[in-house]
Amino acid sequence: MNRLPELKIGKHVSRYPIVQGGMGVKISGPKLAGAVASNGGVGTIASVGLACDHPQFNGKNYFNVNEIALAEAVKTARDEAPGGVIAVNCMVALTDYDRQVRSACEAGADMIVSGAGLPMKLPEYAKDYPDVALVPIVSSVKAADLIIRKWGKLYGRIPDAIVVETPLSAGGHLGATKMEHVSDPAFSLESVIPDLVKYLADVVKADVPVIAAGGIWDRADIDSAFSLGAKGVQMGTRFACTEEGDSSMRFKQAYLDATDDDVVVIMSPVGIPGRALRNPFVARYIKGDVESRPCLAACLSHCTYLREHTTFCIAGALVDAYTGDWENGLFFCGSNVSKCTKIERVSDIFKELLGDQA
Ligand SMILES: Cc1cc2nc3c(=O)[nH]c(=O)nc-3n(C[C@H](O)[C@H](O)[C@H](O)COP(=O)(O)O)c2cc1C
Repeated sequence: MNRLPELKIGKHVSRYPIVQGGMGVKISGPKLAGAVASNGGVGTIASVGLACDHPQFNGKNYFNVNEIALAEAVKTARDEAPGGVIAVNCMVALTDYDRQVRSACEAGADMIVSGAGLPMKLPEYAKDYPDVALVPIVSSVKAADLIIRKWGKLYGRIPDAIVVETPLSAGGHLGATKMEHVSDPAFSLESVIPDLVKYLADVVKADVPVIAAGGIWDRADIDSAFSLGAKGVQMGTRFACTEEGDSSMRFKQAYLDATDDDVVVIMSPVGIPGRALRNPFVARYIKGDVESRPCLAACLSHCTYLREHTTFCIAGALVDAYTGDWENGLFFCGSNVSKCTKIERVSDIFKELLGDQA
């Protein structure tokens, strides 16, 4: 095995080029992020919905408690991994996106990783924290180009790295405006990464590391992403099913039980597709049953559930999945979820991926 190089993102360097993707709600919290960072990767806390089971949440103070909970999560992950690289994943689609970015920076995150929409204003929200690296998630060169042009014009800044997440296999919300894109080879890593690397070298003329996400499981997947020009990989599903994963045991059991046939792509209230397990909740949704769950906190800036009372309350459904409610939860997962056959330790995953280098 060749040695995997370190990964430099802005002013931060992780020993290995392995990023654990942010997974909400509370699937990647401080425990998982801290474990990944202490093993030499980039550990990512998902900022979404942290208030949901916080002792200070009283049903009315969701956004304030999110800030408190996020600061606590960053501190806990830091204590777990002194000197490690801790990122916070903030989704553009959230109502309190700007507040979450500021709170994460204030709490001492090393980088902000942002998808589920194009993070056009991210540099503005992080402007008082120049050492915090800013990393957009995209699924096409066109999206990267839009962000780079806007950031250059308004803020004189370029991304410190770019995550290319392919809708063909990633878990959670997918970078696709239409359902057809989810199976379109034009959005595969093989197609997008070489073009993006070329665009960054020829047009932007900057050394911006590209990180491949979606369907990365083993060392062969990492080597193949590197052969396309990636400088790092981001992995979600495999890290969710670890001892250190912050979800309930019943969430992880759903992964262990999953087969390829259980994976579906549905339209989320955000207005973009998402990949998840087919469970009783998803079956009811596909059949057209309308939910009657109350809105938790108007957490999305554009929510089809709140606006049209179609779809469902995604915050409620994701919290139910986190606690392991198989009947009512939305269990996001990547297309390779059937590869989860045991609950692993984060350190064992690193050992397997690194071979002699570990
Ligand atoms: C349970 C779950 C929740 C996720 N939640 C988020 C999220 O909150 N924000 C985000 O940007 N990506 C989210 N993702 C995407 C992951 O960060 C990651 O990029 C993706 O899952 C990579 O594909 P893989 O699962 O095949 O490794 C989620 C993925 C999963 C499996």
